Amino acid sequence: MRWFVTRRTCRSHPRLGGRYFLAYRWTPSPMRILSGIQPSGVLHIGNYFGMMQPAIALQSQGEAFYFIADYHALTTLHDPLALRENSRRVALDFLACGLDPARAALFRQSDVPQVTELAWILNTVTPMGLLERAHSYKDKIARGLAASAGLFTYPTLMAADILIYDSDVVPVGRDQKQHVEITRDLAIKMNETYGQILKLPEPRISTATAIVPGLDGQKMSKSYGNTIDLFGSEKETQKRVMSITTDSTPVEAPKNPDTSSIFQLYSLFASPNEIAEMRADFEKGGRGYGDFKKQLFAKLWDYFAPMRKRREEILAQPDYINEVLAQGAAHANAIADVVMTRVRQAVGL
Ligand code: ADP
Ligand code: TRP
Repeated sequence: MRWFVTRRTCRSHPRLGGRYFLAYRWTPSPMRILSGIQPSGVLHIGNYFGMMQPAIALQSQGEAFYFIADYHALTTLHDPLALRENSRRVALDFLACGLDPARAALFRQSDVPQVTELAWILNTVTPMGLLERAHSYKDKIARGLAASAGLFTYPTLMAADILIYDSDVVPVGRDQKQHVEITRDLAIKMNETYGQILKLPEPRISTATAIVPGLDGQKMSKSYGNTIDLFGSEKETQKRVMSITTDSTPVEAPKNPDTSSIFQLYSLFASPNEIAEMRADFEKGGRGYGDFKKQLFAKLWDYFAPMRKRREEILAQPDYINEVLAQGAAHANAIADVVMTRVRQAVGL
């Protein structure tokens, strides 16, 4: 909510009739929506349903800021060519999936370097224990990644990303929820130390598709090698779908849809009637998993057809992505400067 000064005519008032006066009006300001995605690899359908689709659906409901988290990707990717190429590809895929630059600012995180300044300031109030409890850090170390200071302080940079735009809502997959909670904790800590300078954001987790399963039934993730790429070739996508792990239930026997990744993935693309039909087919028996996989592939391939078309159109306009990113960065910078001025002043810089 924001205060606005308004000028109104008040014809009905006996003394003020016809004259103007100033009044304050409590007007709702647009909800500010922010999310980011790392350009650390090729996007997959887990990223699409967990983060991109909810973010795109929200773009018409407020002022949206979506960015390519290239500073964050540096914690795991040390190949400059790959980082640059992935960043461009994330922008392309996001636009192909329906991000509308007229509604949402799309930009590279590194085009708003003020976030690293805010991250530093947040680091000075961040308790070590808070970072030590972060699941994503523990998971990455368990998977053998080098324990760099950047990986450890990843959550403070993410908090800066969110807080620097006075964000209200952060659409992310469930695995990012703890990071948004850490962001809230840090905003509270800053506000207790320096006065009310930072806005507390809310995570928005899409419950319909909280965790998209991968080919092996675990969470789909590029680090598990179990993904179906969003814009893979037809042959590769079909190959991936046909390699979904199944149990050894014979063709004629009834099957449990609720433990099947085929059924769970199909449910993301199909209509309620189609989902009910596949459920009944599973439970009835008489159809093999190979058959269900073909049905899933056909549905999935159809679902992304308009987005593949849009992607080709964007690729045919060489300057389009750069223009969108430059325009998004200008918008993001304007907001980040306002918040940073407030923060710098409050902390004594
Ligand atoms: P990955 O696990 O492949 O490395 P990221 O961690 O880069 O994916 O995730 C980017 C965004 O996509 C995050 O918001 C995350 O929550 C979401 N996401 C990733 N995988 C899934 C999944 N299997 N199901 C739902 N959301 C996902
Ligand atoms: N950590 C997020 C991920 O791995 C990416 C990210 C960085 C992000 N900064 C953010 C997401 C701010 C939402 C808001 O997916």
